Amino acid sequence: MCGIVGYIGWRDAAPMLVEGLKSLEYRGYDSFGVATGTDRLMVAKRKGRISEQADCVSGCHGTRGIGHTRWATHGLPDDRNAHPHTDCSGRFAIVHNGIIENYAELRRGLEERGHRFTSDTDSEVIAHLIEEAWEGDFAAAVRGVLPLLEGSYAILALCADTDEVVAARERSPLVLGLGDDEFFACSDATPIVAYTRNILVMEDGDLAVIRRGSVAVENGGETVVRETTYIDYDVEASRKGGFEHFMLKEIFEQPDVFQQSFRLACKHHGISMLLSRARGISVIACGTSYNAALLFRYFVEKECGVPVRVDLASEYRYLSTPGDEIVIAVSQSGETADTLSALKKAASSNCATIAITNVQGSSITRAADDTIYTGAGPEISVAATKSYMGQYAAFVGLLAGMSCSDMSAVERSVRQAIEESLLTDVNEAVSLCVGASTLFYVGRGIFYPVALEGALKMKEISYIHAEGYAAGEIKHGPFALLSKDTPAVAVCLPGDGYQSMLGNLREMKARGTPLIGIGYGDDIDLQDVADVCIPVPKGDAYAQVAAVTVIMQRIAYYTALALGRDIDKPRNLAKSVTVE
Ligand code: AGP
Repeated sequence: MCGIVGYIGWRDAAPMLVEGLKSLEYRGYDSFGVATGTDRLMVAKRKGRISEQADCVSGCHGTRGIGHTRWATHGLPDDRNAHPHTDCSGRFAIVHNGIIENYAELRRGLEERGHRFTSDTDSEVIAHLIEEAWEGDFAAAVRGVLPLLEGSYAILALCADTDEVVAARERSPLVLGLGDDEFFACSDATPIVAYTRNILVMEDGDLAVIRRGSVAVENGGETVVRETTYIDYDVEASRKGGFEHFMLKEIFEQPDVFQQSFRLACKHHGISMLLSRARGISVIACGTSYNAALLFRYFVEKECGVPVRVDLASEYRYLSTPGDEIVIAVSQSGETADTLSALKKAASSNCATIAITNVQGSSITRAADDTIYTGAGPEISVAATKSYMGQYAAFVGLLAGMSCSDMSAVERSVRQAIEESLLTDVNEAVSLCVGASTLFYVGRGIFYPVALEGALKMKEISYIHAEGYAAGEIKHGPFALLSKDTPAVAVCLPGDGYQSMLGNLREMKARGTPLIGIGYGDDIDLQDVADVCIPVPKGDAYAQVAAVTVIMQRIAYYTALALGRDIDKPRNLAKSVTVE
């Protein structure tokens, strides 16, 4: 979490840092700050979002600087805890993304030695440690501090006396942008692509000394040469393009995203063959990516008979890792700390590893044996929509290879189903949701993961408590909560378990629960029991999953809109969760 940006070159640093931080706000937006240097350091920082108060950095001058947008881990989201943090003398400033696990012990020692702290953060110790290590050589001081730090960090450091930015990385992402006589250092490439597409991805243990005209990277005291990659990035995709919110724009991009991601995955024949012969497949992921992975399990076990285990990446470390499995890590950002450490655990247990991600060069791509990129393009809204569709499409593409079927008809049917579902009227459903205190989302079989994802979307952007349940489970406890104030969104489509689903809906209805039924428009049994019916275009199971997903995304979006929520940046969340 948190986004960091650094710059050294010929531009005025502050405006570049401000624009960079704006584009990193999806990583956190509790507070922000900038430090720039001439022969002294100038620091400006404040609670809130930089996009709403960028003028606060107008007093920061100079052509080198560092900046930070925060997702609070240690200390309240207020002015004091905003980065950059400085040492007692004001000579050094640092920004940090990650967690310094031994900060309390380090801080006690520093305070005993007379250092005065001005924040409650774990990060501030870094500035004071640099102050202690300083003997006139800035890079040497930072180098000397790193072995003292336990935990994860991407650090950018600035010194009043030297014309350098020093960057260090350990288990938190950090990339360098190499421009014409100017250099950038950022949590990811988003702020850099407007200036250069030449990116150097730093690795764990790397320290980079960035001066005007040169970058030197070292690891363990040895100079290292890191490959520079040219990255493709659709700058247009990072603009709203006439939509009120990025989330709505991204929902509308899903027909193309499905098609593009499906085709990309179909090219990975080798991986599909490997999977179809596997003794077992494990998929690890968090949040929305986990929900996408569950879909893979239902389809693969049905179509190919290969057992698939799906684990929350954050729980994976507590579970056994059979060495003969193929492990797939799914992550839109490719930086989720739990997914990355689960992937590393799998690799160290000799599992073959595959990453499915949306971000070129991200950390999981470098930890996995092979990578399948989804074709979702940059996703700006914190709530994942098109990236989920991209992951789903990647899984369908792999499945096509595993079952040796020509699924081009599926590609067309899914695309059409998404397009139709973008136009389906969801107003009545939204009216029911807006006044609810709790919502249930229920489905059976493949619609169980879809229900989980529907509930996750609703809670994260509307702040209404929403629970996704396997419909058969709801009698085992949650029934106690049912009332006229707890509407349920239920997927009821002909196929496996249809009659049982209708039975579940009647039982819920008997407890007074208002029902939003998502099913076929001509299903009179569903119309009989549901208060509101939302029609799903007729099609195969793959198309139905996509259609219901889009309908649920739109119910969540319009509910949040009606409630006046901050849709693209919901409270307390960040798009890239880089702490465990
Ligand atoms: C969903 O809308 C959230 N953005 C969240 O659940 C997300 O899917 C999760 O944090 C995992 O992120 P990743 O796909 O980047 O690993």
